[in-house]
Formats: sequence, C-alpha cells, structure tokens
Amino acid sequence: MTIDVALNPAEIARLPQRDLSQTTCVVFDILRATSTMITALAHGAREIHPVRTIDEARELRAEHPRAMLGGERHGELIDGFDLGNSPLEYRNIGPARIITTTTNGTIALRACEHAERVFVGALLNLGAVVEELRWDEPERLLLVCAGTFEDFALEDAVAAGLLALEFPDATLTDAAHAAVASARLFPTPLEALRASRNGQVLASKGRSAEVEWCAQLSRYTVVGLMDGAVIRPLG
Ligand code: MLT
Repeated sequence: MTIDVALNPAEIARLPQRDLSQTTCVVFDILRATSTMITALAHGAREIHPVRTIDEARELRAEHPRAMLGGERHGELIDGFDLGNSPLEYRNIGPARIITTTTNGTIALRACEHAERVFVGALLNLGAVVEELRWDEPERLLLVCAGTFEDFALEDAVAAGLLALEFPDATLTDAAHAAVASARLFPTPLEALRASRNGQVLASKGRSAEVEWCAQLSRYTVVGLMDGAVIRPLG
C-alpha cells in the first residue's frame, strides 16, 4: 500500500482533476466537521449530505423537508439552520437525515467524490477506519486534510499521521512522512489539538469541551462511507 496525504486546501482544490478511480480516500476535518459527522452517525443518524454552499443546503432540504440543516460559517450557526457544527449538538440526533455545509470539511469530502472509496475520518473512530482499511487493503490510500480556510491545519495532519503509523509496511510519500512527523510531535492527540490554531480559537470562545470531545481516540466503532454525495454508516 502507498499512503499519500493532501496536506492543505490548495491540494484539495486540485483533487477533482486527479484520477482517484483506484484510490481510497479518508477525509479528516478534526475541528470539527468530520468529528461531528462521526458523532452523529454513532448516535443514530442515517444519512449525511455534505454540500458546498448554503443555497445548495436549502435546495436539498426542499427535496427532503424532514431533513435537519446543520453546519457553520465562521464557526457559528447559519441563519435558519437547525444545528451548528459542534459535535456536542449531535449526541441526541437519532435516525435523522442531515444536510450540512461547512467551510472546509464538506468541500474536502465533495472534492473526493469520484474516488473508488471515501471514508469519513476522525480521531473518534480512528481504530474502526484502520480496521476497515486492513480489510480492504487498498493499493493507494489518500489521506485528505481539510485544513482551515486556505491554510494547513495541524490537527488534521496529526490524525493522518496517526493513521499512517498503523501501517508500518506501507510506502509513504513525503507528505505522508510529514504527517507522521506531526503525529510524533505530541504525546497525546489532546495536546496536539490544544496546540493547534483551531483548538486555541475554540478555547478562546469557551468551547474547550468540543476540543476535548474531538480528541478522544477510537471512542466509536462506526465508519462513515460516502457513496456519491451521501454518507451512511457502513454495515
Ligand atoms: C470546517 O469544516 O471548516 C470546520 O469544521 C469548521 C468548524 O467547525 O469550525
């Protein structure tokens, strides 16, 4: 297996032009989009529709009137939406259909939709994703770090590095080596998230509980698989 990592949004913008037909992607947006999606799936959500724009979310809701609208802009609840993007809001979600739009996470997911397989990755379900990849044995694995606005996000690279460390026989690209080096910098994921820009911004807003939540390692066994533009729990 060869493991590559898309470390920042500029690379994600180029993904639609890349041939990913033989590639499995795992998308990470640890603070907070993919952590929120895994929390929702673990608490019963049936479908998650990641979309790029607020208008797209509203149009899709017109087709699914009972769906929940979730997401954020500048980390805050979007006018008229039912839920923000804090994982803590999704712990009582039940068997819902969720339409969500976020600044980076949903963009990164949709940029991979032409790949052979697309998994939603988080620290919360890292062990379960690793198990699925061991079963699948993809020849090419691309770990996609959603980033923040136009920038690299440390927490996403740390998660990608922790996953790559689970495959000691894999061939790593330079970007994958950089992700592994990021993961090795911190004794625990929580220390990495607290050191990250996003973690500090969330803490400054009194949202440290969300940072701690997203730092939990393999709390859930659910794996989110995106098929087309819809995420469902695997199995
Ligand atoms: C994103 O997708 O850009 C982030 O998850 C946004 C956030 O939750 O702050």
